[in-house]
Amino acid sequence: MATDAKILVVDDEVVIRELMTDILIDEGYEVESAPNGREALKLIQSNPDFVVLFTDIMMPEMDGIQLIREARKISPNLVPIVMTGYATLESARAAVKEGAYDYVVKPFNLSEIKLAVSNALERCRLTSENTRLREITDLFNISEKIASIRDEDELLDYILDAALSRVDAEAGSVMVVSEDGELLKVVRSRGLNAENHNMVVRREGSISGWVAENVQPLIIGEPGQELQLGTLRRKFQGGTFISVPLERKTNAMDPMMLKSEGLPRVVAVLNATGKRNGGRFTDTDLKALSIVANHAAAAMENVRLISDIEENQREVVYTLGEIVETRSKETGQHVKRVAEYSRLLGVLHGLNNSEADVLRMASPLHDVGKVGIPDEILNKPGKLTPEEFEVMKTHAQLGFDMLKNSKGVVLRTAAIVAHEHQEKFNGSGYPRGLSGEDIHIYGRITGLADVFDALGSERVYKKAWPLEKILDFFREQRGEHFDPRLVDLFFEHLDSFLEIRGAYPETGEEETAPLEPAVEA
Ligand code: C2E
Ligand code: SIN
Ligand code: SIN
Ligand code: FE
Repeated sequence: MATDAKILVVDDEVVIRELMTDILIDEGYEVESAPNGREALKLIQSNPDFVVLFTDIMMPEMDGIQLIREARKISPNLVPIVMTGYATLESARAAVKEGAYDYVVKPFNLSEIKLAVSNALERCRLTSENTRLREITDLFNISEKIASIRDEDELLDYILDAALSRVDAEAGSVMVVSEDGELLKVVRSRGLNAENHNMVVRREGSISGWVAENVQPLIIGEPGQELQLGTLRRKFQGGTFISVPLERKTNAMDPMMLKSEGLPRVVAVLNATGKRNGGRFTDTDLKALSIVANHAAAAMENVRLISDIEENQREVVYTLGEIVETRSKETGQHVKRVAEYSRLLGVLHGLNNSEADVLRMASPLHDVGKVGIPDEILNKPGKLTPEEFEVMKTHAQLGFDMLKNSKGVVLRTAAIVAHEHQEKFNGSGYPRGLSGEDIHIYGRITGLADVFDALGSERVYKKAWPLEKILDFFREQRGEHFDPRLVDLFFEHLDSFLEIRGAYPETGEEETAPLEPAVEA
């Protein structure tokens, strides 16, 4: 540690500066010195690797305590030690209270200085280890959370809040780059004036635009710093500022690749400003923000990819559902009702909303296996023979085989529903004769929804049953065909089920129902 440790000595008396410098150089340290606080701060600003600061207390312009305060804003891990004569021992103690780590007394005692430096370095090592550990844990937690968010709005909010709190910034924004790369629009902001909430800036002439175009982060460490960015030359108006690009992720496996051709490389820019407590942003802040931005960019891409996949899945589900309906001459209203009954039963049973929504999307595929059943059996006007019914029963396994290798949540759910909707609670169903809670809850739910709807509908082989007969059947089959808990929920919320039934009437009924009452003058 001693060899690469850099020490700064600040004293208005040249003799003291030289003496201290000699002592420390003899000990193998790299040393610089300054005659006053102003010079010292300049050195610290341009030299982030000072680890120890020796400073006099009583100095013209800026005293040692003030210097320590300012120095730690620039370099928080710098370990300050004050140098003092006996006359000011009291103020040395005060300095320690104000944040100095230690003090040494003039005239100097060599071993005292050696000890102070080695203590300071040890302290510095521990602090930087702690800081590093905290940083890594923080960033790990942030990236884990970012990866778990599926909603773009929620993601933007989280990214901005996490980034700002990570670097202790009071204000900031996320700006999204337009597809032609020419404009940047604020889509999320914190702590900005109202007129900046939806601000749009041109790429050319703006700082964020420069960051986006050059795919490079930017840090303004000094308030009022003069900037020369390509053709952009200006004084930065605000205080200290960091801006980092969110770079588009593309790889050969990415099905979005085609779409991303010709789009700007940077999707968005993350800005932070107003370091808390009047401090300045450091390279460590820039690094942390860049890591957040990197995870954020990947997550934004994923969220967009997932919503594309979901849209595709919905289309597949819808198309398959239509094929099933057409083949089995059932009405489109049947699958819609089964979907809504399933979602409702799901919610009543305690599934969370997103799971219940997935079940609503998946349940119309419960009979998808019927596409593999010969027409003369599927659409036979009368009762099936036992042999025909055996063929008919294969539809559950067929449906499962069609869907079982799906990757998406909706189709995987549909696979379960297709497989298990014909099982019965008492174990007398098919294809596997599962019973009780061995039957997946999705299977139990859609199984009940399907029968409720089938009984109330006309089929090629049967008439629609009146409601009272259907309800008697459910009472009788409670715990036999059906999960008793689901039957109870069904009866407790019968009104809601009947409401759904009314909302999706058979086409025939729709046609006969007068759309508008005839009004005679
Ligand atoms: P589906 O028409 O969608 O009927 C689904 C389930 O509702 C049936 O499963 C059964 O549990 C119940 N269900 C429907 N109608 C009646 C009924 O009149 N009485 C009673 N007690 N339950 C009824 P299941 O029985 O395993 O049948 C599966 C599929 O096999 C039916 O789907 C239908 O497509 C076909 N199917 C069943 N029986 C016949 C039949 O006699 N003739 C024809 N053509 N097809 C039949
Ligand atoms: C920007 O990020 O470009 C807006 C801030 C500024 O240009 O001063
Ligand atoms: C998800 O995984 O959250 C999306 C569910 C789906 O595939 O629709
Ligand atoms: Fe079925």
